[in-house]
Amino acid sequence: MTAPAAARRDYSLTGPEAGRAAARGLVEADWYRPPIDPDRLHELAARTNRRAAVDTALWLGLLAGTGALAWLALGSWWAVPAFAAYGALYGGAADSRWHEMGHGTAFRTGWLNDAVYYLAAFMLLREPTLWRWSHARHHTDTIVVGRDPEIAFPRPTGRWSLAATFLGLRTIPPMVGRIFKHAAGRLDGAAKAFVPRSDWPRVVWEARVYAAVLVGVAAWAAAAGTVVPLLYVGLPSIYGVWLLVFFGITQHAGLQEDVLDHRLNTRTVYMNPVLRFLYSNMNYHVEHHMFPTVPYHALPALHAEVGRHLAPAVPGVGAAYREILASLACQARDPAYETDRTVPGADEAGGGPGRIDVGQYLWARARSLDSGSRFDLGPAADLPTGGMRRVDVDDRTFAVCRLDDGALAVTDGICTHGRAHLAEGRVAGCEIECPKHNGRFDARTGQPVRRPARTPIAVYEAEVVDGRILSCLAPRNRQGTDAA
Ligand code: FES
Repeated sequence: MTAPAAARRDYSLTGPEAGRAAARGLVEADWYRPPIDPDRLHELAARTNRRAAVDTALWLGLLAGTGALAWLALGSWWAVPAFAAYGALYGGAADSRWHEMGHGTAFRTGWLNDAVYYLAAFMLLREPTLWRWSHARHHTDTIVVGRDPEIAFPRPTGRWSLAATFLGLRTIPPMVGRIFKHAAGRLDGAAKAFVPRSDWPRVVWEARVYAAVLVGVAAWAAAAGTVVPLLYVGLPSIYGVWLLVFFGITQHAGLQEDVLDHRLNTRTVYMNPVLRFLYSNMNYHVEHHMFPTVPYHALPALHAEVGRHLAPAVPGVGAAYREILASLACQARDPAYETDRTVPGADEAGGGPGRIDVGQYLWARARSLDSGSRFDLGPAADLPTGGMRRVDVDDRTFAVCRLDDGALAVTDGICTHGRAHLAEGRVAGCEIECPKHNGRFDARTGQPVRRPARTPIAVYEAEVVDGRILSCLAPRNRQGTDAA
């Protein structure tokens, strides 16, 4: 006699699974991270405008080129492959651009990331602010049922549901409906669950812009008596989505739910250079989830650095699809089925699953001086430009960093958005970037300058005396004020 199949779970963010996840300690929990030398991580997290500009120009150039070919081929069958390529670049390859720009890791210059982010978000019909918060939640509670709004393959995903996903029929109509609902000023419960109230008006206005553009293009097509305008704007989000799904399914489908180790719920798949260009190296997906400060172009190097601590990468797209389709077929019969992953033991990995191995970032425990009125935070010479270290004082944690202009800064060590140690992030100019969701703070004032960070961190005076960094560790700014 076979065991009865497990009941289908409620994947909504407003159902009973949200409470269950919290009760099981799966919400905003500590996740396993493999050991890596902080200076090497700092090198890998470096940004350049040039690399992202070349890749973005190539993507947009191909988009314009295939669009022009489709225009020239209108009225002939040659328009079909031309539009197919245009759609794949528009509704498929835009996904990894949207993703990378949303993390703010592609370009060194922030507004360039934002510009491409908004363009790609529109191509995918993703409301920009809503999806920024959605993706932050996805990184916080990856594939935790009831918490992660981006679980693309809830169990069971049968063959018809899978086919509908590849055709965009399962995802795009609800997204369009949501845009018009938000444009009307009505946010759904899921959006309210992860978008802060202060950003609700922004969600509404962005939805109105999207709705206006889509209605405008549809009206243009109706007035001209041709579908051609919609083939360029609007419909490619549907007829090109297959490429998005082709890549996206490899990320988490069929793997484990409700675990605190990306090695168990995320897949790294080796792909050829063409696919890696179209997918912006997101095939190194385990590494990306563990170290989201590392830009897409450095993910292969990061993989070389930490790969021995991860489950073996899937050797190719074919192998990944064999594994995924077999797993989805099993889950269609028994939703509790999931693909096993063999991960290196704690000894090899340098830390057991389910916790962040923070020790590697701990630079020093501060020495108390002058009866506790000042603290010795360590040697100044050991902190290079752009370097950042964690220093603990009793149960308090601080980040000590040398900004790109050479100045020292001492700030609170824990991000005000989540519970991430800022010293595991990076210094960018005069800002500190959080390792968990790429939120940023001005290291001189403590003010948040990039979402999802919205609440200031405390900053402290520091001076160098006889080569040692000394601070009284009394905050010199107001903190705890929501900056939104
Ligand atoms: Fe989210 Fe720091 S924990 S930005």
